Amino acid sequence: MSGAERRLRIVMVASEAVPFSKTGGLADVSGSLSRALDRAGHDVVLILPDYPALRQGRSEAAIVNGTGLQFSLDMNGRAVTAGLNWASLPDSQVRVLLVSQPEYFDRSHLYGDTSGSYFDNCERFCFFSRLIPEICRKLVLQPDILHCNDWHTGLIPALLNTVYAGTRGLEQTASVMTIHNLAYQGQFQDYEFPLTGMPRRYYNMYQMEAWGHLNLLKTGLSFADQLTTVSPSYADEICLPENGCGLDGVLRHRQSDLVGILNGIDEQIWDPAADPMISANYTLSSRASGKATCKQKLQEVFGLDQDPTTPLLGMVTRLADQKGLDLIAAGIERILAAGVQFVFLGTGDARYEQLLSALPRRFSGRIGGRIGFDEAAAHQIEAGSDMFLMPSRFEPCGLNQMYSLRYGTVPVVRGVGGLADSVIDYDGQPGTLDRATGFAFREYSTDQLVQTIVRAVASYRQPDVWSRLVDNGMRQDWSWDRSAAAYLQVYERALQSVSSRQQAGRS
Ligand code: ADP
Ligand code: GLC
Repeated sequence: MSGAERRLRIVMVASEAVPFSKTGGLADVSGSLSRALDRAGHDVVLILPDYPALRQGRSEAAIVNGTGLQFSLDMNGRAVTAGLNWASLPDSQVRVLLVSQPEYFDRSHLYGDTSGSYFDNCERFCFFSRLIPEICRKLVLQPDILHCNDWHTGLIPALLNTVYAGTRGLEQTASVMTIHNLAYQGQFQDYEFPLTGMPRRYYNMYQMEAWGHLNLLKTGLSFADQLTTVSPSYADEICLPENGCGLDGVLRHRQSDLVGILNGIDEQIWDPAADPMISANYTLSSRASGKATCKQKLQEVFGLDQDPTTPLLGMVTRLADQKGLDLIAAGIERILAAGVQFVFLGTGDARYEQLLSALPRRFSGRIGGRIGFDEAAAHQIEAGSDMFLMPSRFEPCGLNQMYSLRYGTVPVVRGVGGLADSVIDYDGQPGTLDRATGFAFREYSTDQLVQTIVRAVASYRQPDVWSRLVDNGMRQDWSWDRSAAAYLQVYERALQSVSSRQQAGRS
């Protein structure tokens, strides 16, 4: 931190964070961004719901202590109480506060199970959000910045600017709302509005209502001082009607306050030179032998033909419409005809689970995979594959392509959102080989996907070309420090807007 910069008190709020809970990239980001801000010299408190069932088996996350504090809120006529636990984020000074409310959060999953989303998600996350200003008050946290992530926390900026306006310890607090995925908005029926604890007059099309529903993400986008999303390309895309998921109007209205900041990766957790979950560790110079060992093991574990020369295409993903699984399903025979093996790991929508789980039997020895969430297997697929597939319909940032680059695994992606911002296509021209790191296609079609895999296989068959691509990828810097610096600029702008508002209020 330079002398001119001051140490900020930052409260980061999210519904999930590694190592406590995880369904996707949000958890990686809220954990590692908090740590990067801490490294930059700021005082960071991370507040999460406590999901005791999900802590089991995660040793760092299991060390949780009670604070002895109790909170109570009126949830639409019912008094609901919660405790507060604390823990620490490994390798950092970040303090973690876990909201303990077993009725809401001691469940087998975070947001829903195979029968769909939990029926009381509005209540669960309104409760969590409403506790945040109360926690700040009771613990005298006096944050400069309340950094909210995704719809689960969208109510917080609204509370801060209305119900809690002028509250001691929160008068100077600025709010920042980060969109990790605009497709999930926290839309609920209007009769759930009283759960928000907000006066009814805010239920209007400029603030908390969208298309006839209570919309918690829109609430955050309307009230926060600054908005961010997780890549520059996605920041542009979501302001267009075709990608705005019904909120492009709100986003255009606030476009001057919206910044796209590409996520970084946790270079300690995702480091092929030290990763304890993979069969052999390797660096840029030892990658040929290291990756060969990892590939052989991956082929063995997933029942693939043991052939070091067949290019192995990996995929680790939430099984959701966003991820382009329909293209894979439609093109699977042509993909295999390109001469690859395919290994997948994923969990999510039942129809994609059924679709994928049938493949290893149908294409024995050529496709292997597993339905489930398995961190070690995710690391092994990153290390042992030659190529990594992400044909996303849209992708706010995407982390797996960055993990792949670091692991010397060449990404094959659809060039949208964060994928466009992090993977440089190799178009076969010698001039591009200096910079290219992977293969990207633009049009969302099976033909384009198959042609791009064919292009990738052709390059794989040219060892000099392939080696350059792997080299270029492994040399990229995806550390969080750069992104954390960009967030700090956003925080400064948010603080300025609070002080201009206060000055305007006084004059
Ligand atoms: P999203 O957040 O949309 O799911 P990202 O690429 O940003 O996509 O992040 C996904 C994260 O979740 C990555 O760390 C990835 O390795 C992990 N992940 C996804 N599915 C699984 C799974 N089935 N098992 C283990 N890790 C998974
Ligand atoms: C979301 C997005 C993903 C992004 C992640 C972390 O889940 O789908 O693209 O990387 O959030 O920001």
